[in-house]
Amino acid sequence: MMFKVTVVSVVLIAVGLACLRRHMAGVRYNNTTTRLDGKTVLITGANTGIGKETAIDLAKRGARVILACRDLDKAKTAADDIKNRTGNENIIIKRLDLASLKSIKIFAGDINANEKKLDILINNAGTDTSAKHNSGHQD
Ligand SMILES: NC(=O)c1ccc[n+]([C@@H]2O[C@H](COP(=O)([O-])OP(=O)(O)OC[C@H]3O[C@@H](n4cnc5c(N)ncnc54)[C@H](OP(=O)(O)O)[C@@H]3O)[C@@H](O)[C@H]2O)c1
Repeated sequence: MMFKVTVVSVVLIAVGLACLRRHMAGVRYNNTTTRLDGKTVLITGANTGIGKETAIDLAKRGARVILACRDLDKAKTAADDIKNRTGNENIIIKRLDLASLKSIKIFAGDINANEKKLDILINNAGTDTSAKHNSGHQD
């Protein structure tokens, strides 16, 4: 009887530790390879960092990717790099400064006028309110 209790306790502790370890490791990057041919993805702040890496992944999977960036020179450099690395020529750049309501309205008007549909929207830029994300616009 004592032996059974000890074995059950050891098993429960082992399972508990395994669950804790998994929980502490956090959510893992999703390595999905699902194709996105024919899908249009809009991603903000995609010229660098997480946004650009996400755009590369989406482009590899065949999506038509719209990079919405506040600096068109940086956006073009990123788009060229994404095209070279993925072989996907369907990378579009558009100007969007999320610190400017005027820029947001012009951008939204452009999307409404020129895009039949958006399949995926990734709000990557502008969630950090630190100074580096503020373009100084108040309009
Ligand atoms: N990295 C992390 O560990 C982490 C953790 C949690 C959450 N996040 C969030 O994930 C997002 C991406 O992070 P990251 O590390 O890749 O950041 P990042 O390297 O600083 O890139 C941010 C992107 O957003 C653009 N951006 C900034 N302000 C903008 C504005 N007003 N209008 C339009 N675009 C703007 C930047 O453009 P410019 O190149 O022109 O500056 C850049 O393309 C951020 O929202 C961040 O808060 C990041």
